[in-house]
Amino acid sequence: MSVAIAPAVVVERSVPMAGAVELVVYHPPSAAAVNPGQFFQLAVGAPRTILRRPYSAAWSDAASGRVGFIFNVVGAGSAWLSQRDEGSELDLLGPLGRGFELDGDRPAVCIAGGLGIAVFLGVVQALVARGRKVTMLQGARMSAQLLPADRLPGADVRTATDDGSRGHHGSVVDLISSHFPPTFTGERQGGGIDLFACGPTPMLQSMIGLAQRHAVPLSSIQVALETPMGCGVGTCLGCAAPRREGGYLLTCQDGPCVRADRIDWDRMEDQFHG
Ligand SMILES: Cc1cc2nc3c(=O)[nH]c(=O)nc-3n(C[C@H](O)[C@H](O)[C@H](O)COP(=O)(O)OP(=O)(O)OC[C@H]3O[C@@H](n4cnc5c(N)ncnc54)[C@H](O)[C@@H]3O)c2cc1C
Ligand code: FES
Repeated sequence: MSVAIAPAVVVERSVPMAGAVELVVYHPPSAAAVNPGQFFQLAVGAPRTILRRPYSAAWSDAASGRVGFIFNVVGAGSAWLSQRDEGSELDLLGPLGRGFELDGDRPAVCIAGGLGIAVFLGVVQALVARGRKVTMLQGARMSAQLLPADRLPGADVRTATDDGSRGHHGSVVDLISSHFPPTFTGERQGGGIDLFACGPTPMLQSMIGLAQRHAVPLSSIQVALETPMGCGVGTCLGCAAPRREGGYLLTCQDGPCVRADRIDWDRMEDQFHG
């Protein structure tokens, strides 16, 4: 794995869905090196921000040397990033951490809550390229905040919104139920699905609870964890996540993509949403 601090150039800025910004940067070494689910630490120049900010590579294209990032504005760092114009330089550290394990031949079901969808453009592309059947379950507060399905070519996209403005009226986790019973039956026969998830911790906990009630093995579920991060490279211990067997793992090194059976979900805290 090659990790570098590198000045990249912003070549495109757009609004992929309401409340989100997409920055496309040109940096061929990063575009060639990144695996879906890995992240970069982006340097931000906003006043009183010292630490870099972690962002998943939403997608990458080695042929054009481009990497895309999709994010929402929650504070000073993301506000600064959202104002980068075409032609401005962006300092990337990465790619960092472990991406998803994508090989396999079982159907893949991806589930994203809110900005968790950001990581799935590259994941879906890589799964489809492996010839896997892909279902993408996407949840948002309202219709305008859903990533358009044409950004996820090859996937069967199902949606859920909190306000019922598109798709299922309620949590995106409700949409997995229809995948679980056959999975359980299929698992016994050697079939089943692989589940890939990213979203707020309460959403992940609700999904894990449902999986356990359906006796779905947590080893068949991979999650992209989101914890606060300082260094991004294993030295500050700021990204600790509780391990099932006790102690902690480091999200920046052991993750962010981990098998769900490695985490103690009862001790996992939502550090962002109160
Ligand atoms: C591995 C990893 C990958 C990530 N990938 C993405 C991504 O692809 N797209 C994306 O939009 N975000 C992503 N994030 C979250 C992103 O790093 C934070 O939103 C960002 O660091 C916030 O920086 P800031 O300076 O704008 O806000 P800060 O000033 O650091 O925080 C401002 C406020 O926002 C809250 N906040 C901070 N982070 C989050 C969060 N993740 N969710 C909700 N509230 C938050 C803080 O608690 C605080 O109240 C990722 C995080 C990790 C660990
Ligand atoms: S972010 Fe510093 S150890 Fe993980």
